[in-house]
Amino acid sequence: MTTDSGSDRQRDAAGGLRHLLTLEGVSRDEILWLLELAETFVRPPGELPARGTSLVGRTVANLFFEPSTRTRVSFELAAARLGADVVNLDMQSSSRAKGESVLDTIYTLQAMAVDVFVLRDAEPGLPAWISRHTAPHVSVLNAGEAHLSHPTQGLLDALTIRQLLGDTSRLVIAVVGDVRHSRVARSAWQALRTLGMGEFRLVGPRELLPADDELRGARRCATLAEGLDGADVVMALRLQRERMAEARIPDAESYHREYGITARSLALARPGALVMHPGPMNRGVEISDEVADGPQSAIQQQVANGVAVRMAVLAHLQRRARDPTPPSRGERAG
Ligand code: CP
Repeated sequence: MTTDSGSDRQRDAAGGLRHLLTLEGVSRDEILWLLELAETFVRPPGELPARGTSLVGRTVANLFFEPSTRTRVSFELAAARLGADVVNLDMQSSSRAKGESVLDTIYTLQAMAVDVFVLRDAEPGLPAWISRHTAPHVSVLNAGEAHLSHPTQGLLDALTIRQLLGDTSRLVIAVVGDVRHSRVARSAWQALRTLGMGEFRLVGPRELLPADDELRGARRCATLAEGLDGADVVMALRLQRERMAEARIPDAESYHREYGITARSLALARPGALVMHPGPMNRGVEISDEVADGPQSAIQQQVANGVAVRMAVLAHLQRRARDPTPPSRGERAG
């Protein structure tokens, strides 16, 4: 299995997006198009969710080789609300446990007329590799790939920021915590760099920040005082213990004291700064209850936007896979 990011592989012969493997190489117009389409699926809290018919007759399979709540459920809801049949393969009880390869699993589901594979895996490269083996009408969607990429999360974060703060071109975005192991931070950076932003700051202890040749142009900050000063957006990240050697996991209490987003540390940022977190949260470690549930928190809006963004991506990619002509700008949710 190769570990290419898939930025070329995700396009069809006409240059359109057929898969979504990474936000690398996705243009500003394409991102704006997807966000605009996602907006048509957003409904105020308490209203019935948006529905559409663009996936009627299609089948979407969710294959998650790593745990997930938000991404898996939102892909399931997104597909169902667009009329698709949805398969959630339980990897523990599937024939993978009897030694069947991932590729044979894909071929088996494809033979049952699965049109979209939604994949999450702890190892780099799986979505791009699978995309090389699927039929021409089939789309592959990256739902979280190792520490590298989580494209729909990057889109939903960009959508949330634009909804609440408008134009991103002058914003200071501070991403705090375990950036080294974070596919969320990398995809947010890709989306916001393409859309335009003021400054992207990576805030945390040296051992939790990525190497200097990654996320080039982002400013590294060792303290919250430096990193949050004047920030418009504060994105807290979970310590990804599952990707760290036991000995390197920071002590939760001292980490919270130094890097936790609390009412006190949030006061370093611009007044009213947006607080974001991709979830799952470890309350009392990277974020306090009062901030997570406070008036500046956009966390529930991020979750809600996740369904809308995944509806937009599913609708767009499947239309491209079946009919690779440029999309009309008139599509609206049913
Ligand atoms: N943000 C995110 O990927 O959450 P899940 O792991 O619950 O899907």
